[in-house]
Amino acid sequence: MSRLKELSKRLEESRNAGGQERIDKQHKAGKLTARERVELLLDPGSFLELDALVTHRSSAFGLENQKIPGDGVVTGAGKINGRAVYVFAQDFTVFGGSLAEGHAKKICKVMDLAKDSGVPLIGLNDSGGARIQEGVLSLGGYADIFLRNTDCSGVIPQISLIMGPCAGGAVYSPAITDFILMVKDTSYMFITGPEVIKTVTKEDVTKEELGGAESHSEKSGICHLIGQDDKQTLELCRELLSFIPQNNKEKTPRVETEYLPIRESEKLNTIVPEDSSKPYDIKDIIIEIADESYFFELQPYFAQNLVTGFIRLDGYSIGVVANQPKENAGCLDIDASTKGARFVRFCDAFNIPILTLVDVPGFLPGVEQEHGGIIRHGAKLLYAFAEATVPKVTVITRKAYGGAYDVMSSKHIRADFNFAYPTAEIAVMGPEGAVNIIFRKEIESAKDPVQKRAELIANYKDTLANPWDAASLGFIDAVIEPSKTRPIVIESFKRLLTKSTSTPKRKHGNIPL
Ligand code: HXC
Repeated sequence: MSRLKELSKRLEESRNAGGQERIDKQHKAGKLTARERVELLLDPGSFLELDALVTHRSSAFGLENQKIPGDGVVTGAGKINGRAVYVFAQDFTVFGGSLAEGHAKKICKVMDLAKDSGVPLIGLNDSGGARIQEGVLSLGGYADIFLRNTDCSGVIPQISLIMGPCAGGAVYSPAITDFILMVKDTSYMFITGPEVIKTVTKEDVTKEELGGAESHSEKSGICHLIGQDDKQTLELCRELLSFIPQNNKEKTPRVETEYLPIRESEKLNTIVPEDSSKPYDIKDIIIEIADESYFFELQPYFAQNLVTGFIRLDGYSIGVVANQPKENAGCLDIDASTKGARFVRFCDAFNIPILTLVDVPGFLPGVEQEHGGIIRHGAKLLYAFAEATVPKVTVITRKAYGGAYDVMSSKHIRADFNFAYPTAEIAVMGPEGAVNIIFRKEIESAKDPVQKRAELIANYKDTLANPWDAASLGFIDAVIEPSKTRPIVIESFKRLLTKSTSTPKRKHGNIPL
């Protein structure tokens, strides 16, 4: 056989490694194959496959007669919207996508290439876990990947798509990466499955309830984005990448736009209600500020009292962190704090400027929160905002009370531009709570305590629950008309394009984990 013919035969074997029966089974389960996924993820014709001919070296349990080229994972280089990426896609049709020595080495190779050349890494996970026949070699393979995930963290963006099973220690590679996308109904992640749980804790739970895309989107917050099927999840990944630079040395990406930067919005003058106890949707403000009125939200179902995601301003990619008054009055709690902190740190690591919209009555009170560690978790958000040296612009739309005022990218923790709407209330605490404490005796001894309390609240609002005090101290750079938010915020970020701030030299900080 000529070498050319032999090459084509070997590659053909690799392409159909698992055989038609297993491919059909994969399709029947509503899943695409690894190769079909790679094709959909990457720009057409851009995939350069590596290591298609790698096989395992094991002879345990008859494996010597089952050498399948590719060893259960498709790896290589490609492009997304013209930008270079490296990718691996576990092939469930070969040994259930299980990870063994050769399989792990292939993944490590693309990780090293991605890190050394400053290119994002995308992992498509669909695997039965450690290849049982290869024993500790498989465990070593996982650890080799975990180490590289850690080395790549903050250097290149790492995105994990969960497109099938991902269980046991296998979850920790995606967990270290920056974003996890899951497919509805066909993906799951857990440390121990329903059967082990039943034995150990006697709890009855299905695979989906325990670790399906919906549980991880709403309850654990592990899943950043959920797709209805493989195709939509891959499209979401392509879009997510468009907001992110190639590596930590690049600036935030910019796309050409005809959306006018100086566009004002009268609607913004009407969104925040006069009555400060009334809720509104902070996303209505975000989309009025954003190019094309478009907000790419992350973790939309988790800790909904804090909204995170990307917008574009005059084409530049900007991270948005915003309290959500229509959910728990926008209070900061444990989940909101960790959600916000991780997002702020991602933006800071990859030079994506941060726009913070503030309407926060404070941290959520309660025994559960205190005993759950709101002190430790709240400190994460504070730490993340404080250490971030990317351009930071803050707009206080309404409440900014107590410690939460300081935490939410205040001037004091190095925000560059701090603006407030005339509706802003910046004080130690809200009027009701404040008068109860400082005027308790006056209220108790008044002829009409209800009337007296109302007067005192009105007086407190005039004196302290407004933006004027903070503006007079320079803590707020300007009180702005809401309709002008977009042009003002864009101009601010443009002025910060040349920002350069240094922090003290150290091995690394010690964020309260
Ligand atoms: C070797 C495996 C495998 C594994 C699946 N297969 N998992 N081969 N090692 N871990 C093979 C099966 O033998 C089968 O081969 C094919 O993949 C498809 O598997 P099925 O069971 O037929 O598929 P399905 O019914 O869809 O079930 C999928 C599954 C199940 C739920 C993932 O296969 C399963 O429970 N696998 C074992 C999971 C597991 O316990 N893994 C080890 C976890 S410990 P054929 O030839 O019949 O097609 C771990 C530690 C990691 O991962 C530690 C990191 C630090």
